[in-house]
Amino acid sequence: MGKEGLPDDYIGREQAYIKHKILESYLKRLFMIVGRSKADVINFVDCFAGPWQEGDKFLADTSIGIALKQMESCKKQLDATFGRNVKFRALFIEKEEKPYTRLKTFLSENHYPTIVAECIHGEYAKSSEEIVNWCKEGFTFFFVDPKGWLNVSDLRPFLAIRNSEFLVNLMYDFINRFVTQFDQKDRMSDIFGETPDFLQDALPEERQSKLLTLFRKNLNKTYDGRSAFVRIEKPGHNRILYYLVW
Ligand SMILES: C[S@@+](CC[C@H](N)C(=O)[O-])C[C@H]1O[C@@H](n2cnc3c(N)ncnc32)[C@H](O)[C@@H]1O
Repeated sequence: MGKEGLPDDYIGREQAYIKHKILESYLKRLFMIVGRSKADVINFVDCFAGPWQEGDKFLADTSIGIALKQMESCKKQLDATFGRNVKFRALFIEKEEKPYTRLKTFLSENHYPTIVAECIHGEYAKSSEEIVNWCKEGFTFFFVDPKGWLNVSDLRPFLAIRNSEFLVNLMYDFINRFVTQFDQKDRMSDIFGETPDFLQDALPEERQSKLLTLFRKNLNKTYDGRSAFVRIEKPGHNRILYYLVW
């Protein structure tokens, strides 16, 4: 443990610690609620899996390790408390060679034998048909955690899946730099559903709130459900780094 209770593996990336804590507690509740009554099969899809900046050899400080651990623990609890034998499946997609090899090796070590875990090498959008097919049975949770750009059009095949939930990282600080740039119009209208030129002279708070509203509305053009969000600030600054929208 480092200063103020922060685990050593997260020093210098405090924002990832917050993100992972939110992911962990969200999954814990969701899996128990869905597994108790709604689904016999629960799927987890990590569209931007990594591992990325990992410090722990069991990947406990990555979305991969966190998801697998929660799946295993909820599977046991569902069985012990409610007599529910829920099948848990995980699918991790990673574009880059090096992290993919690390991911594949980790999964082959089979640290979570009760979970069916698979991985795909490549860009998730290029495998969307395969991923949608993979999710055919049961309930699916998607974790969408890019380093920068996000194409909402790439997410639409998944957003259309009825029995699903999402946690999406909108990299606000990064995207905000390009919002009013003419050469980014197409990208902006993909993310926000329109070109937000009208924000040219907006104050930062107004811009944040309008962009977030547009983003959520844009997701809801395909996703049939409600959304909420939490803002993650840059450590030590009063400045938004990203929004987690679910
Ligand atoms: C922010 S990191 C993921 C961190 C991880 N979700 C976590 O919380 O531990 C983003 C990862 O996505 C990968 N990536 C980037 N674009 C991708 C794409 N289109 N499809 C699949 N993976 C992608 C990157 O190589 C990187 O490893």
